[in-house]
Amino acid sequence: MGIARKAGTLFLAAIGGGGYLWLNRSGELNRTLKVIKRDVAAIRDRDPAATSMLETLTCYSGLHAILLHRMAHFLYEQKLPVVPRMISQLNRFLTEIEIHPAASIGEGFFIDHGSGVVIGETTEVGDNVTLYQGVTLGGTGKETGKRHPTLHDNVTVGAGAKVLGSVTVGENAKIGAGSIVIHDVPPNSTVVGNPGRPVRERGRKVGASDLDWTHLPDPVADAMQSLVRRVVELENEFKTAFPEKAAEIERAQEEGERELDRVFDYYHGLGI
Ligand SMILES: CC(C)(COP(=O)(O)OP(=O)(O)OC[C@H]1O[C@@H](n2cnc3c(N)ncnc32)[C@H](O)[C@@H]1OP(=O)(O)O)[C@@H](O)C(=O)NCCC(=O)NCCS
Repeated sequence: MGIARKAGTLFLAAIGGGGYLWLNRSGELNRTLKVIKRDVAAIRDRDPAATSMLETLTCYSGLHAILLHRMAHFLYEQKLPVVPRMISQLNRFLTEIEIHPAASIGEGFFIDHGSGVVIGETTEVGDNVTLYQGVTLGGTGKETGKRHPTLHDNVTVGAGAKVLGSVTVGENAKIGAGSIVIHDVPPNSTVVGNPGRPVRERGRKVGASDLDWTHLPDPVADAMQSLVRRVVELENEFKTAFPEKAAEIERAQEEGERELDRVFDYYHGLGI
């Protein structure tokens, strides 16, 4: 284990050194440094536990993972065979975060805690996205081609959530911890549970404003009314079958109606 880690670190140092020289020569160094600065700033902005720059640079596997991924992705785009996958596997070994080199990830990306995060090959991630530990941006196993999610800017995915398939998560959306999302998520919404269901849309609780509190469905009252209707029908049939009892039945019906009116008035709030 110790030797493997040392070999991995040396491999990365060699790739990193080569990358630095290449970037310096091609004039890309400034742009790369800007992207790295934004990844570091994302941690300082979003994690109150990040107290110093030294701590941020040394103690965040999420930062190490995205830096290694940016290196792997760059080499992948240069069409270098195998090496990007090797860096990705090394990344997984060192940080427990697996990101396919082809995955495209925007600036200001932050994986908090890190362990168990998997990001698939055709995933696209916008700017300022936050993932917590155990998140999978994966495939359903049924699709080919673009088979992993697209996350727009400012999305947050809670711990252990799984976003599966070629779904789109709109900007500013939040996915609750432990959710399983297999359908598109609208912008500015919050989705929780399995299967993921929206609990907030455009920042407002789903259903809250539309609820008609005075006319909630009441299955007990509905059942009582249907029973009463049935009794009245039977009494009417009885009256036809036994005309000599009609007056007695009508008196009982009137009395019953008065009682029922009182019950329903009470039920609807009058007697309280
Ligand atoms: C979903 C989340 C972002 C909160 O969003 P919100 O819009 O403020 O939602 P609310 O807290 O108002 O909750 C809305 C409803 O969703 C439910 N809910 C919230 N989070 C949930 C979750 N992860 N799973 C299932 N239900 C959840 C609430 O109980 C509430 O239900 P109710 O309306 O029936 O009472 C937050 O709960 C969450 O999961 N954050 C992830 C944090 C994380 O991963 N932290 C790891 C740190 S190590």
